[in-house]
Amino acid sequence: MAKRSIQSYENRFIVGDCAEVLKGFPPKSVDLVLTSPPYADQRDYGTESSSISPDDYVKWFTPKARQIYRVLKDNGSFVLNISDKVVDGYQHLYVFELVTHLCKRVGYHLVRDYIWYNPATPPNVFSRGGFGRTKKSHEYCFWFAKGSEWTFNLDPIRRPYGKDMQKFLQGKGKGNRADNIRPSTHNFNCEKVWTDNGGSDPGTVIEIGNTNSNDVFSKLCKERGIAHPARFPEKLAEFFILAGTMEGDLVLDPFSGSGTTAVSAARNQRRWIGIDANPDYCDLAAARMEIELRGDRDDA
Ligand SMILES: C[S@@+](CC[C@H](N)C(=O)[O-])C[C@H]1O[C@@H](n2cnc3c(N)ncnc32)[C@H](O)[C@@H]1O
Repeated sequence: MAKRSIQSYENRFIVGDCAEVLKGFPPKSVDLVLTSPPYADQRDYGTESSSISPDDYVKWFTPKARQIYRVLKDNGSFVLNISDKVVDGYQHLYVFELVTHLCKRVGYHLVRDYIWYNPATPPNVFSRGGFGRTKKSHEYCFWFAKGSEWTFNLDPIRRPYGKDMQKFLQGKGKGNRADNIRPSTHNFNCEKVWTDNGGSDPGTVIEIGNTNSNDVFSKLCKERGIAHPARFPEKLAEFFILAGTMEGDLVLDPFSGSGTTAVSAARNQRRWIGIDANPDYCDLAAARMEIELRGDRDDA
């Protein structure tokens, strides 16, 4: 397939199977791929991949993962949001099989596994206790690098310091500066322990409630009689976009759905590309982008 310039794909939602669409992209042209593909056996998106058996998931995803690898720059990253399911009484291992396969067979390096904790997860069949487990209130976000170096910005994702730490940095409250002991009583023997960095390292558990029933996209869905069953929150996309890219970088979501990744990228002055197999979702995502960015301009 003849390769077009990457600029000809930018800031658009493209309809198609992502593995096929990506074959037209030039190699090493994307800074960050951030995506949430359909999970095994879970939702109906009105596409051929509506129901991928957990046993076939690695085989289904591998051609897409290879194309993503090809289009990433050498210092680019791939963030994969995914969850598993219970099959025949036990949690299926396809997510862990996939991660192992991506690293051992496709060439990615696992940088960090993140947990997206959704405190708004509603009670479900597991909540009655009859299946020997709780409901699952988190999903995974696996951050992979293509090469030995990747963009990483800690400052924009820092969490505000807790009250004790704020006092400590002002030389008050708990902790002992002379002995290098923090309010938590930990002593890291770290030269920079006294520095106020503007916030703390957020760690690996990202807490964001997934409550978006009254937002721009939901209103568009109601108007047009279409539903998108599984979106992730914009704050989740923003966390990885701010950490993994610089302004002006290119962010790709090859399973773009309602366009959440693209909207967050545009809001944060990144270039973006969305691909989705369902043309209705691409139309809705484009309408959402237009409304949300117009709203931002009006508010400015
Ligand atoms: C979990 S949803 C993504 C939701 C998105 N993160 C959001 O916040 O709206 C997965 C999307 O993948 C799309 N899809 C399924 N198979 C695809 C394929 N082979 N290529 C591109 N998109 C596909 C579905 O139509 C669906 O919109």
